[in-house]
Amino acid sequence: SNSFEFIETTTQGAIGTIELNRPKVLNALNTKMISEIVQAMEGFDKDDNIRVIVLSGKGRAFAAGADIDEMANASAMDLELLNQFVDWDRLALIKKPIIGAVHGFALGGAFELALCCDLLFAAEDAEFGFPEVNLGVMPGAGGTQRLTKLVGKTKAMEWLFTGKRITAKEALHYGIINQTFSKELLFEETYKFAEQLAKQAPISIRLIKESVLKAIDHSIYEGMQFERKNFYLLFSSEDQKEGMKAFIEKRQPQFKGK
Ligand code: CAA
Repeated sequence: SNSFEFIETTTQGAIGTIELNRPKVLNALNTKMISEIVQAMEGFDKDDNIRVIVLSGKGRAFAAGADIDEMANASAMDLELLNQFVDWDRLALIKKPIIGAVHGFALGGAFELALCCDLLFAAEDAEFGFPEVNLGVMPGAGGTQRLTKLVGKTKAMEWLFTGKRITAKEALHYGIINQTFSKELLFEETYKFAEQLAKQAPISIRLIKESVLKAIDHSIYEGMQFERKNFYLLFSSEDQKEGMKAFIEKRQPQFKGK
């Protein structure tokens, strides 16, 4: 299913995979790659056969950040008129769960891309970081916001000020990632998890994702109003009837995603 230049997409059962595919430059994210990632995500989001999206990188790294060659000579007006972060905003609107499987470097824009995933698994060799400060810039695709919301001001400031790399072990300790695996097992374990996730009631997963994301930038009161409506909404799904009926009948539920 590949009409893309900088990514490769594949499907395996209910799992749709997007692999960053520019390994010669450690998958440096150029504008077209970001737009392809978003297009592929939206495609999977609309595809009834797909329940989980996996994002990873081909070659030696997840990705070494935004393409420095592409932006080195840009002016502020070039960037304003390009409005490239609009594509990133669309990533935040994907409804299906996204699992990032990170090995090697996830730096700068690639760390920001990882932070857009709902779950993150990492190889023991994974290294995260925001080296933008060393280039005389700063993150522009959500890094200062998402990292701070995730780990708090203390470590966010330290990591953003120094550009220091965060090991997989530290990332696990600070709750940036869900789990680490050996490099050899990363993809196998990610797919195992994804397959389990694909069996969960899809509308539940969808509304849980939406509600958790709501918690990040709304007050607890607003968030709870939203949660409650989503809870009520689930009672209009066939899967809620089936899930509760199966419990009462002491059998496994058959979820259809409706
Ligand atoms: N952009 C463009 N090309 C890149 C790149 C990037 N971000 N990262 C790596 N490459 C290229 C290198 O230029 C090199 O190309 P050549 O073989 O043609 O010389 C190739 O990928 C392999 O890289 P290295 O030889 O440097 O590999 P290494 O193992 O010695 O070092 C590294 C790896 C430490 C990640 C190093 O490549 C590096 O520091 N990369 C830049 C990391 C960075 O600063 N990222 C942040 C970008 S800014 C950003 O992301 C802004 C934002 O928020 C949107």
